[in-house]
Amino acid sequence: MENIGNLIYAGKAKDVYSYKTDDNVIIKFRDDITAGDGERKDTFKGKGKCNSLISSKLFEILEENDINTQYIKLLESGSMLSKKLNMIPLEVILRNIATGSLTKRFPFKEKQDLKPPIIQMDFKNDEFHDPMLNDDIIITLKIATKDELSEIREITLKINEILSEFLKTKGIILVDFKLEFGKDLNGNIRLGDEISPDTCRFWDINTLDTLDKDLFRKGEGNVMDVYKKVCNLIVNEEDLNRWKIK
Ligand code: TMP
Ligand code: ASP
Repeated sequence: MENIGNLIYAGKAKDVYSYKTDDNVIIKFRDDITAGDGERKDTFKGKGKCNSLISSKLFEILEENDINTQYIKLLESGSMLSKKLNMIPLEVILRNIATGSLTKRFPFKEKQDLKPPIIQMDFKNDEFHDPMLNDDIIITLKIATKDELSEIREITLKINEILSEFLKTKGIILVDFKLEFGKDLNGNIRLGDEISPDTCRFWDINTLDTLDKDLFRKGEGNVMDVYKKVCNLIVNEEDLNRWKIK
C-alpha cells in the first residue's frame, strides 16, 4: 500500500503502522482471533476486512454525533487511516446487561438489566492480566487524572446512547462493550482502537442469540458466519459491494 511506513505496534488482532504524515497512522485489522489473555488463538479468513468495515461504520456514526475519534477513513478493506494517539492504558467497559465476567465475579443475575449502565475500568496490561481498577489506583498510577476520568466516563455514556440506538434499528442489542481512549497531538482525548464483535457483546434482538466473539470464547458455532451477519446488518449495500465483502 502507498505511503505505509514501519510497524509501530503489533496487537493481538491489529497492527499499527506509521504513515507519510507524522500525525496519522494506519491500523491494519488481521484475521487473527484470541481469547483468555491470548492463550487460545485462531485465524478466520475475512475477519480483518469484516471488523474494519463494522468499526468504520460505527466510528462514522459517532463522528456524526460529535464524538471525537481517531478514525479518518478506510483506505481499503482492512486498513484504516487514523489520527495518531498516545493511548491511555485503560479498557473502559460499559455494561447494559449483566453477563460475562461480571456475573462470574459478582452476584448479578445473568441477563439482569443494568440501569443506569455500569462503567468498569480495567488496566490494559498483559503482565498484570488486565486487573480491574478504581479511581484512586488510576490517579495514583498517573494513568489518567480525575478530570480526564470524568471526561472519559461522560463520552462513554454518550457513545452507549448513540450506538445502542443505532444498533437497535439493525436488530441488535448492545449488551456491553470495551473502549480505548488516547490523546491526540494537541492533548485532546479521542476514542481510539476499534468497535467490533471482538470488543462488544451483540445479541439478536428477537432471539437473544450471540453475534460476537463470545462464540469463540465459548467454542460454539461458526464465528465467521456471525461476523459476516453483523457486517451485513450494519454496513450498507454500497460499501459491502465496494469493499467486496459479499
Ligand atoms: P467481560 O465480561 O469478559 O469482562 O467483557 C466485557 C466486554 O469487554 C465485552 O464486550 C468484551 C470486551 N472485552 C474486550 O474487548 N477485550 C478483552 O480483553 C475482554 C476481556 C473483554
Ligand atoms: N482480548 C482477550 C485476548 O485476546 C480476551 C477476550 O477478548 O476475551 O485474550
